[in-house]
Formats: sequence, structure tokens, C-alpha cells
Amino acid sequence: MTDTHHDAELNFADRMGYGDYLALDRVLDAQHPRSDAHDELLFIIQHQTSELWMKLAVHELESARDAILSGALPQAFKLLARVSRILEQLNGAWDVLRTMTPSDYTTFRDALGQSSGFQSWQYRAIEYLCGNRTAATLGPHRHRPATLARLEAILAAPSIYDAALTRLHAAGLLADPLRDWRTPHAPDDAITAAWATVYRDPQAHWPLYELAEKLVDLEDYFRRWRFNHVTTVERVIGLKRGTGGTAGVSYLRRMLEVELFPELWAVRTHL
Ligand code: HEM
Repeated sequence: MTDTHHDAELNFADRMGYGDYLALDRVLDAQHPRSDAHDELLFIIQHQTSELWMKLAVHELESARDAILSGALPQAFKLLARVSRILEQLNGAWDVLRTMTPSDYTTFRDALGQSSGFQSWQYRAIEYLCGNRTAATLGPHRHRPATLARLEAILAAPSIYDAALTRLHAAGLLADPLRDWRTPHAPDDAITAAWATVYRDPQAHWPLYELAEKLVDLEDYFRRWRFNHVTTVERVIGLKRGTGGTAGVSYLRRMLEVELFPELWAVRTHL
């Protein structure tokens, strides 16, 4: 029998290997179930892997925002396409968690205390980068200065949608959208009209047209994440209150109505 591994390096005593490069000791040592329940490891890994993908989404969204602001739209398209694929990946991951029944979850739910995804600062970073800037969601991070500063820095800069509006302005389709970035975006008919100009003649405004569709893609995948989450939550805890203190499913259903890029949805009615 031939040895198919004969070229592989087998001695890593004095050089960097796979586990060193990826800091796998730390990553794989970061799961600490608080109960003996079989499914708690699934629950922890599901959240941790989501947070890793969210870390990448924040990284890509910040670059995409900067690329849009500087007018480098083709570069932004590539980054935005990647963020949509990341969300698709997160959407697929719910199928694993859905194998956990209410009977399984109740065996360890008490061990979570008041912890909840509501306190995910990276999820808020993604929301803020997309333009959903609700100040109340900073609350759980006030006791951690470094996290708070990171979120405040995102709020101090334009969102990805604010950046897109500066492109409409640069194209002469919209008055200067200068505004207080920290406040939530207020839907505006003038912005809908500007997007309508783009959609009525894609050839004349191709980069803006492509930007608009990339943003709609992003929101489409984001909505699917929210929908998959609330469906999983209902399947697992029914109408019980959340560990984070909200009413649970009814709160999450309200979140389904959040519109990140409202004029991009409104424009469809006008075409
Ligand atoms: C059995 C699984 C899960 C249940 C029962 C559940 C339950 C809930 C509930 C009830 C809320 C509302 C806040 C509260 O009162 O706690 C919430 C929020 C949230 N959860 Fe989950 N969740 C689950 C899995 C996940 C996973 C895997 C993630 C991925 C990171 C996640 C991320 C979030 C986020 C980001 C929020 C905030 C949503 C918002 O404010 O719009 N959840 N979850």
C-alpha cells in the first residue's frame, strides 16, 4: 500500500502549525456548559459560531461603508455580496438548532440566567452599520467601556445606507443628506423619488442601480434571519418571556417590521 501522506510535514515541535495559526486551543476551550444537559453544547456552539460570522460581517460592512463613501462602488458590491452570503450561512445554521426540542431546552434554560442574544454587541454593530440605530440597545453594554466605545464609534459614522445616500447626492439626484448620524433614519419621499429615477432608467444609473439591489439583497437575507430566529424561538419556548426580559416572540415579531432601507422598498410601489 502506498503512503499518500509521505510529503506531509509531521513535526511541529518548533514551527507554527494549523492549531497555532488558528489559536484553536483558545477557541475550542471556550465552551463551558453550566449544566449536564446534553444539548447545552449545541446551544453554546450555535451562538459562538454565529458570533464568529457576525465578526466577519461587521468587518465587511465597515469596509463596504467606507468604499461607498469614497465612491469605490465595485469594491463595495463585492463586500456586500459577501455579507449577504454570510447571512445566508447564518440562516442555514438554524436547521441545526431546530433539532433541539422544548423538552431538551428546558433541561438547561435556567442555567442561562438573564443572558440573551439581545445583549449581542456584534448584532447591534451590524444593525447600527445598516442604519437601525436605536439608542436603547446600547444599554446592556454601558458597563463595558471598550465595547461601548466600539459601538459609539459606529454610531458616530454614517451607516451603509447614509453612505449610499451620499452617492445619490453626488449623482445630483438628492439634496445633501447631511444629518446627525446617531439618530435613526427617517423615511423621506425625496429619497424614494431619487431611487425611482435610478430604477426607471437603470442604464443611465447602473452603479446606483446595482448598489440599490445589493442593499435590497442584504435586507432580504437579514429579514430571513429574523424570521428564522422568531420561528425557532416559538418552536422552542412558545410564548414564554425571553431570558433577556422582553415579552419574547411578540417582541421578535415586532422586530420583523423594522425596515433598514425603507425607500428601497417604497420605490417598488411607485414603479
Ligand atoms: C433556542 C434558541 C433561542 C431562543 C429560545 C432565543 C430566544 C430569544 C428571545 C426570547 C429573544 C428576545 C430577547 C429576550 O427577551 O431574551 C432573543 C433575542 C435575540 N437572539 Fe435569540 N434565541 C435563540 C437562539 C439564538 C441564536 C442561535 C442567536 C445567534 C446569535 C440569537 C441571537 C439573538 C439576537 C441577536 C437577539 C436580539 C434580537 C433583537 O433585539 O432584535 N438567538 N432570542
